[in-house]
Amino acid sequence: MVEEKNKSNSETEHRSVGKVVAVQGPVVDVEFKCVEDMPNINETITTTTFDRNEVTMLAAEHLEGNIARCVSLSATLNLQRNAAAYATGSPLMVPIGDELFGRIVNVMGKPVDNKGELITDKKAPIHKDFEKLEVNVNSLNTGGADIVETGLKVVDLLFPVVRGCKTGIIGGAGCGKTVLISELIHNIVEEHEGACVFTGVGERIREGNELYYEFAEAGILDKVMMVFGQMDEPPGARFNVILTGITMAEYLQSKGMEVLLFVDNIFRFVQAGAEISTLLGRTPSETGYQPTLSSEVGDVHERIKGSVSAFEAVYVPADDITDPAVVAIFSYLDAVMVLSRERTQLGLYPAVDPLASSCSNLDVSIVGQRHFDLSQEMLRILTKYEELRRIVAVIGIDELSQGDRTLYERARKLQYFMTQPMFVAESYVGKKGQYVKIGETLDGVEMIIDGKVDHLTEDDCYMIGKLGG
Ligand SMILES: Nc1ncnc2c1ncn2[C@@H]1O[C@H](COP(=O)(O)OP(=O)(O)OP(=O)(O)O)[C@@H](O)[C@H]1O
Ligand SMILES: [Mg+2]
Repeated sequence: MVEEKNKSNSETEHRSVGKVVAVQGPVVDVEFKCVEDMPNINETITTTTFDRNEVTMLAAEHLEGNIARCVSLSATLNLQRNAAAYATGSPLMVPIGDELFGRIVNVMGKPVDNKGELITDKKAPIHKDFEKLEVNVNSLNTGGADIVETGLKVVDLLFPVVRGCKTGIIGGAGCGKTVLISELIHNIVEEHEGACVFTGVGERIREGNELYYEFAEAGILDKVMMVFGQMDEPPGARFNVILTGITMAEYLQSKGMEVLLFVDNIFRFVQAGAEISTLLGRTPSETGYQPTLSSEVGDVHERIKGSVSAFEAVYVPADDITDPAVVAIFSYLDAVMVLSRERTQLGLYPAVDPLASSCSNLDVSIVGQRHFDLSQEMLRILTKYEELRRIVAVIGIDELSQGDRTLYERARKLQYFMTQPMFVAESYVGKKGQYVKIGETLDGVEMIIDGKVDHLTEDDCYMIGKLGG
């Protein structure tokens, strides 16, 4: 009787039974009796460890001798050979529904926030056949673009967020990616209707915790769903957690909601893919990454569509922006914000380097003539400033012509004006966060460019909200 109770669902509802024949860390080989019993690729297989912890795996490869090579989503410690493994006949299903608001779940949709069981009546598979994917046509961007204001000056001015676009926040370690993402969530979710899904991929465990309390403090928990596969979890979890996040976003989208999907950090997804590839014994490509790098990155980005706007932090290993993983991610982004280390050293937060970044939404038909002209004029001034800076470093500012000198000073003011105190960074800078409307940003930039505020010092423009307020 007790034995019966201990049996998990999968042991009672399964398609076929096999046995574990090898365990190599997170990769488990399961042997089945005959070909008919073999699981499909990405089918869920469950087994239990010696100390009765359930292990969920996904079939990754078919080997000779009716062996399915599986990648585990949970720890395989104490998993023994000859343990029974059950092919469930279904892909990985995760719970979806409004019940997930304010909750933290893992890749399998199991709550990890000590707030009790998650009871939902709906489930959805994280892997989908491409043909079957339904897109709510009404939610697609047709004609005019919807701009989502973020309240961050540099973002609204140079990287206007259009509904349904993908924005990458790219930078080396400690350049402020996580802070910028948290600020975006804080501003957008608080100011606008809509919901957000935060997906933590392979980053620090404490960050999930901090984020949770930040959202609670801001009172936006009821609009946020969180899913984590952090750095302590097996590569299978870190690789698939992004699909769990997307599945939740798809649910919100199907309800006709405005959805924001935040991913911190998509580079860890590539890294987890590389780990799995190595464990499966595949030969890496000559760049050192998995041979399937571009298809993996592509598949994930193809899934993010419709009204889902995505923000992805991209870690740049060794500050090398030509890293093949970074380049593979680049091609799917509509906007690329590059954070520069030099700026963080000068305290210029957010450390976006406008000249290294790009955005395809910065177009007259989207932002309007005035916004477009101001942004282009600012970029022109900043480009010229870079040239002058080198000259000034050698011969000093007094040698510049009057015209160049004015431009040099205005460029510096623009650079300082693009810094902004953030709500989520109050403890770092000791200043209250500021939300700046796009109109105020444009006014400020115009005043600096037109020389209306030449009397102000650079410090007057540093870490402020709108100009003259
Ligand atoms: N807007 C900001 N204002 C003030 N300080 C900031 C800001 N953004 C980042 N910082 C400083 O930089 C540090 C690192 O920021 P953050 O954790 O966002 O970096 P990251 O790019 O996510 O790093 P990693 O790649 O290690 O995850 C912060 O702890 C903070 O001290
Ligand atoms: Mg980070």
